[in-house]
Amino acid sequence: MKPEDDPFFGDETTRALQAARDADVATMRDMPGAVVHARVLTADDPEAFGWDRLREGLAREGVVSVRGVTGEVILTAEHEFASLSPKPHFWDLFLGDADDVRAACGKIVAQGLPEGVTRQPSDEIDAKALHEMQAFLVEHGISPFSKRALAGELFPARAVILRNGDGSIAATAFAGLTHNHHSWLSGVAWVGLAAVDPALRGLGLGKTVDAIANLVAVDELGASGTTEFAAADNAPSRAMLRACGLRHVPERMVVMFSASAQRLTA
Ligand SMILES: CC(C)(COP(=O)(O)OP(=O)(O)OC[C@H]1O[C@@H](n2cnc3c(N)ncnc32)[C@H](O)[C@@H]1OP(=O)(O)O)[C@@H](O)C(=O)NCCC(=O)NCCS
Repeated sequence: MKPEDDPFFGDETTRALQAARDADVATMRDMPGAVVHARVLTADDPEAFGWDRLREGLAREGVVSVRGVTGEVILTAEHEFASLSPKPHFWDLFLGDADDVRAACGKIVAQGLPEGVTRQPSDEIDAKALHEMQAFLVEHGISPFSKRALAGELFPARAVILRNGDGSIAATAFAGLTHNHHSWLSGVAWVGLAAVDPALRGLGLGKTVDAIANLVAVDELGASGTTEFAAADNAPSRAMLRACGLRHVPERMVVMFSASAQRLTA
């Protein structure tokens, strides 16, 4: 099999998670409390989704996450998962409505790309490009989705890839409608998988690629707004999200409960 024909990418555990999430989409799309697609089994309303279902997922896959939940729900989660003694990993939730996103991101994108960097047109992002994107994400510490998820074949979604003059990837991001009609985030796109070649960091490319993905979300996927997550210690990411018109929502968090100390991306 050619590498680009392999739908999944990464080590055995990561590939198994990608396959499980892809297989779940049809069910998660209509299930109260479920997030349509993420890297690990995820609920945005664990009460509606069912604590038993989440606990079973944690026992089976070693990791689950709760997304956009209050502190009270996090305390309940700690109690519900106590028998499995998982380690919690926290991310802050950022949110922007379509108008704020358009205003902030429009200005960033209008500044243009740095010399020599070009955006790969969406209709030219084939399996080979998605394979490169998966490898780029892993190289920069981000757990990728399967190619079908990245391609938008499973739920409305689009990958953004910026390339250097020599054809190598300079930066990536992604936008997708990962919240179903039951969710408090229904209609809001998740934007993520933002990464910049370390040699090009600090030059505004992160803001540019993230702004493009945010505009794709509201203008092409029809989202009413966007949400992104950032860890407390990821200053460049937090500044990037704020620059793109999103604001931190302190009363809502994203927590991944993991049986190992390994910290996957949210
Ligand atoms: C996060 C990331 C994409 C940012 O890309 P970048 O090209 O370096 O970012 P930019 O140059 O566009 O800068 C974005 C903002 O962060 C600020 N920033 C950049 N580097 C910073 C640093 N080391 N510390 C603090 N702030 C920093 C910039 O000043 C800018 O904010 P401003 O508009 O308020 O001035 C990049 O650091 C990266 O690939 N990190 C690894 C993967 C990752 O963490 N992705 C995010 C997952 S949520």
